[in-house]
Amino acid sequence: MIPAVLLFHHYVGRAIGKRTAGTYQRAGMKIINDLSQFWMPFTANRQFKAGPRLLVAAKGNYYTSHDGRQVLDGTAGLWCCNAGHGDPRIVKAIQDQAATLDYAPSFQMGHPAAFEVASRLTAMAPDGFDKVFFCSSGSEAVDSALKIALAYQRAIGQGSRTRLIGRERGYHGVGFGGISVGGIVGNRKQYGTLLAGVDHIRHTYDPAQAFTRGQPQDGAELANDLERLVALHDASTIAALIVEPVAGSTGVLIPPVGYLQRLREICDKYGILLIFDEVITAFGRVGPAFASERFGVMPDIMTTAKGVTSGTVPLGAVLVRKGIFEAMSEGQPEGAIELAHGYTYSAHPLACAAALATLDVYRDDGLFERAMGLEEHFEQAIHALAGKPHVADIRNFGLIGGIELTPRPGEPGKRGYELFTRCYDAGVLIRVTGDIVALSPPLTIEPGEIDRIMETIGRELETLP
Ligand SMILES: Cc1ncc(COP(=O)(O)O)c(C=O)c1O
Repeated sequence: MIPAVLLFHHYVGRAIGKRTAGTYQRAGMKIINDLSQFWMPFTANRQFKAGPRLLVAAKGNYYTSHDGRQVLDGTAGLWCCNAGHGDPRIVKAIQDQAATLDYAPSFQMGHPAAFEVASRLTAMAPDGFDKVFFCSSGSEAVDSALKIALAYQRAIGQGSRTRLIGRERGYHGVGFGGISVGGIVGNRKQYGTLLAGVDHIRHTYDPAQAFTRGQPQDGAELANDLERLVALHDASTIAALIVEPVAGSTGVLIPPVGYLQRLREICDKYGILLIFDEVITAFGRVGPAFASERFGVMPDIMTTAKGVTSGTVPLGAVLVRKGIFEAMSEGQPEGAIELAHGYTYSAHPLACAAALATLDVYRDDGLFERAMGLEEHFEQAIHALAGKPHVADIRNFGLIGGIELTPRPGEPGKRGYELFTRCYDAGVLIRVTGDIVALSPPLTIEPGEIDRIMETIGRELETLP
């Protein structure tokens, strides 16, 4: 096998030319970067380093790979680059902010852009959301939201409500709160007992609904599973339910018509807070600024991240409905801190500058409307893959698509992974979770580029063992 050092030179050297020598060689000819030190997240590290895929530049809807190829981005990075890549308006805002105010603490201090982003976000959210808590990622947003829910219940005299409910197959990031309410076994099993007092309602996947376009008509009654948990634990012990309006990372599960409304009704009946994890569904991914608007269901708390800066600088946010902050502040002595929680990088100036510029781009370029306008084309194009080898189901909503493949017997995930690498070699970046392809292109994607993504997948499936 070629040593990783040589691979590094081969791949990166070709892509960035002379910089390789200056940047990566120190102390004579000793090479200090051979790819081995970076413990990559959610990655088969040894497999990757034996055949690396490095991205060295991005513009519009395309990445440039280390070997100089243009790779069409079918996933908006990781569900985040909704405005495409390298928009000069966002780049300039970040550069200007870095030159003006590189960092400011948000504990007992502030900087103007943070307040501006908060008011822009509440203005874009459904009526009734009036406070925004900042962090730097979706995982932090989820853990912050769970803490706010517990603290709120305590503040209104419901301190026995300490139980958190998630959903099977849910993904809520990788913090201990997030994996506890999350329902993906592979993300939980290595980490012991997780948070105590967590339970899960059942997921919404029904193979009988395979190849449904958009929302399944049947299945709203799956929400009644929450009443099973109320009967088991008693409502007086339950603080909050958290769900993704459209489950993404588990392999794209679209909520049945009426399901989210039913969850809302049951939560109202039993005094349970409803949290929508909108880390991937917000900022035009399913049309409006937030999926809750599209579904016509108002949660009590929403988490978001990713698209708020189009992935350029990490930013996460928790939006809460009027009354939640007030319940925690009213009656408190002057000078009391309402929530003992926060991060060094809460409302980082660069992230706030990136968010303001990104929100401007979404508005000025009409990208949310554009996404809605592309939904039908995307739906037709993805469902044209029905009948291709190994395709067991196709699901879609907004600019989110899932293609479920039949796993190779005894080798779960292998077929999906091979499809991913083949598409990458063919110039299209897709994402797979196990044997399910999850597509989420930038909102700037062209219809012809959607066709190219689907044609590439279809062509590779024809010869995939
Ligand atoms: C619904 C949802 N919540 C939380 C997260 C975690 O976000 P991050 O990776 O920024 O921590 C993700 C990431 O994909 C997500 O899809």
